[in-house]
Amino acid sequence: MGDATYAKGLEGVIAAESEICLINGAEGKLYYRGYSIEDLAKSSTFEEITYLLLYEKLPTESELSSFQNKMRKSRPIDTVVQNMITQFPEKGSPMELLQSVITYLSSTVSHTIHHSDKCNCRDTLHQIAQLATVLAMYQRVREGKSYVAPREDLSHGANFLYMMRGEEPDPAEGAIMDKCLILHAEHGFNASTFTARVVASTLSTCYCSISAAVGALYGSLHGGANERVLDMVDAIGSLDNVESWIDKAMAEHKKVMGIGHRVYKAKDPRATVIEEYLKTLSENKGDSFYLDMLTKIEATVNDRMKAEGKLLFPNVDFFSGAVYSLLGIPRDLFTPIFAISRVSGWLTHILEQRKDNRIYRPKCLYEGPQGQSFVPIEDR
Ligand SMILES: CC(C)(COP(=O)(O)OP(=O)(O)OC[C@H]1O[C@@H](n2cnc3c(N)ncnc32)[C@H](O)[C@@H]1OP(=O)(O)O)[C@@H](O)C(=O)NCCC(=O)NCCS
Repeated sequence: MGDATYAKGLEGVIAAESEICLINGAEGKLYYRGYSIEDLAKSSTFEEITYLLLYEKLPTESELSSFQNKMRKSRPIDTVVQNMITQFPEKGSPMELLQSVITYLSSTVSHTIHHSDKCNCRDTLHQIAQLATVLAMYQRVREGKSYVAPREDLSHGANFLYMMRGEEPDPAEGAIMDKCLILHAEHGFNASTFTARVVASTLSTCYCSISAAVGALYGSLHGGANERVLDMVDAIGSLDNVESWIDKAMAEHKKVMGIGHRVYKAKDPRATVIEEYLKTLSENKGDSFYLDMLTKIEATVNDRMKAEGKLLFPNVDFFSGAVYSLLGIPRDLFTPIFAISRVSGWLTHILEQRKDNRIYRPKCLYEGPQGQSFVPIEDR
């Protein structure tokens, strides 16, 4: 093996230099291009942080206005994409639909790929703009309803809710949806982002890179824990059952969903922000079932883990599913919503990869047979 080291799952391996996202797992801090996630969630919009990620700086008013205008004008989907949605097999998943649409979009543009400065990824904002439209229409079609064209006067998040519901959301709900997109837009070298960079490193198109990233996110070890948090809350059923359920789960060495993180060894800062949104929505809707259950689950896990000398905290998925659910979003759209947000981060990483590209080509540790003699098929 020479000097090479082997790290299963590439744990601890630094695969590239990056200026996009800093995660301080020990202190539970997250920054996009040096700006704290708390500040961005409080004061920014999904469109503005998309600009920040793609252009490496916060926009001026006129830069934001022209970027926003371009992205909003890119929101409508053409009839071919609408037909893809209506004809999509019923048993197909929305993630497969998103991959198909991205591949279709790729075939509609001319690609000036192959090198960073000539790449047109930044100009093809319809990847970022249209995935939300596709997902909203997908939901309507399966409810037997028709396409609702996007509006240009709403934020990305509010417009998603509008297109899905067919009516304008309450401003607080629209703002919370938009902020949830901010919180999920970027998170360093996770599996889907790494996938996007690996594909981009071959000088494939940004569309193919993003389609591959959607495929990586589809896997249950990456997206989807927020869905399972709600399944867990359903299984527990009531506040009275929380402690006994957690004790049994721990005795059986089962993982409590939405708890723990490979990188964060403190409370995930996104969880802290989303918890506030859950409080707001629970109060506005007069429905605190999820909030009460999750609060008690968190306290119980905390208590039991401390007794075992372990420090485990909620991650972003712990509260996000409950927020989406109160926004009227079905559970199987939670991971696709992650994709409609993370596409900004993926695109940013593709651009960064191309700036100083070298194709990814790790080695494997060969453990198979050697020196075999070939036996003709008739003699086997
Ligand atoms: C996120 C996750 C995969 C991180 O895994 P990891 O970094 O490999 O952490 P480990 O599995 O090594 O956990 C360390 C210890 O904490 C325990 N632990 C970790 N997460 C736990 C959880 N959710 N519930 C109960 N115990 C947990 C492990 O059993 C392990 O205990 P041990 O040292 O006695 O074996 C893991 O915490 C998990 O499965 N969480 C639930 C699923 C989830 O919420 N995923 C979304 C992540 S954003």
